[in-house]
Amino acid sequence: MTADGDRVHEGPAEGDQEHEGPADGGPAHSGPADGGGRTDGARGWREAAREALYGPRGFYRRPEGPAGHFRTSVHASPLFAIAVARLLCRVDEALGRPDGAAFVDMAAGRGELAAGVLAALPPEVAGRIRICAVEVADRPAGLPERIEWLDAPPRGVRGLLFANEWLDNVPVDVVETDGAGVPRRVLVRPDGTELPGAAVDGEDAAWLERWWPLPPEEGLRAEIGLPRDRAWAGAVASLEAGLAVAVDYAHTAGARPPFGTLTGFRAGREVPPVPDGSRDLTAHVALDSCVLPGGRLLTQREALRALGVTGARPPLSLASSDPAGYVRALASAGEASELTAPGGLGDFTWLLQPVGVPDPLAS
Ligand SMILES: C[S@@+](CC[C@H](N)C(=O)[O-])C[C@H]1O[C@@H](n2cnc3c(N)ncnc32)[C@H](O)[C@@H]1O
Repeated sequence: MTADGDRVHEGPAEGDQEHEGPADGGPAHSGPADGGGRTDGARGWREAAREALYGPRGFYRRPEGPAGHFRTSVHASPLFAIAVARLLCRVDEALGRPDGAAFVDMAAGRGELAAGVLAALPPEVAGRIRICAVEVADRPAGLPERIEWLDAPPRGVRGLLFANEWLDNVPVDVVETDGAGVPRRVLVRPDGTELPGAAVDGEDAAWLERWWPLPPEEGLRAEIGLPRDRAWAGAVASLEAGLAVAVDYAHTAGARPPFGTLTGFRAGREVPPVPDGSRDLTAHVALDSCVLPGGRLLTQREALRALGVTGARPPLSLASSDPAGYVRALASAGEASELTAPGGLGDFTWLLQPVGVPDPLAS
């Protein structure tokens, strides 16, 4: 954890002090469900989370927005938007600086990144670029009129599509191995208690086998990333040419978390995952399964360094020649350090997916 409210987490959630969910931070199990069907309102995590996050009373439709509950890199420092604006300029250059090139802020929250990128672009580029924010929630008040507010990525655009902390919020099913080592879909009731459902089969079983095979030991858990692979492929397909970037807390084959990572966040605290609309429900992303041909993964630290965000301290001589400038540079270096910190935001993974252009961060 790098700061209160960040969604960077390694261990189990703290007990929920309001005792709405199980106190040990993990969902409680109860008796078996018959054949995976519904029991006491129980259903798979994917369906339950979809309603709890995006349904009419869903968490992401709440007026306070994501920033009311946790900080992402976008909220941590304006340097993040400045780096994304630099990346957009590189993509624009690779595309031949076309009129109507687009920046698409996919899963835009309250449009903070779109607004920050617009403000950071050189005037010549800003005047030519179409800026789009794609979000489930309504357009917030006060957003610059220039920013289009859409419910799906525009099709056939040339430019940069950037999805910061989107895929971890694409709902997934959770599975858990039973006493015979068979992965079963986990069902969850509205109060967060869980029970085992049917054995996993079909394309979900094939995805597990390929990307997250579970040894035949009781109690191991995995999250089936297929809906994220598909969501990402759909977003990439919206680009005619340019670059798509997904940034998230991620894991790759060989280092999967043995018990999964599904958790909740509310008001700056990690809380048990209960699908009641009061909290974020998030699980780290098996980002290697999303990579399409020509794509690659790198850490946020590497990506931001390649975009000039280093965290280097200003020279001490500046303190006497320009004291105010020195203090500003020092604050900026502190923010850059937070964005690139090992064990924190710097460990986030960037998925770079070029579409018909060279990789703009290749050295
Ligand atoms: C963790 S927040 C990230 C917000 C912002 N990108 C940031 O980094 O601060 C995830 C956002 O994704 C949005 N979202 C999830 N699925 C979406 C979809 N299919 N289309 C548009 N927005 C989506 C949610 O409504 C939520 O605002």
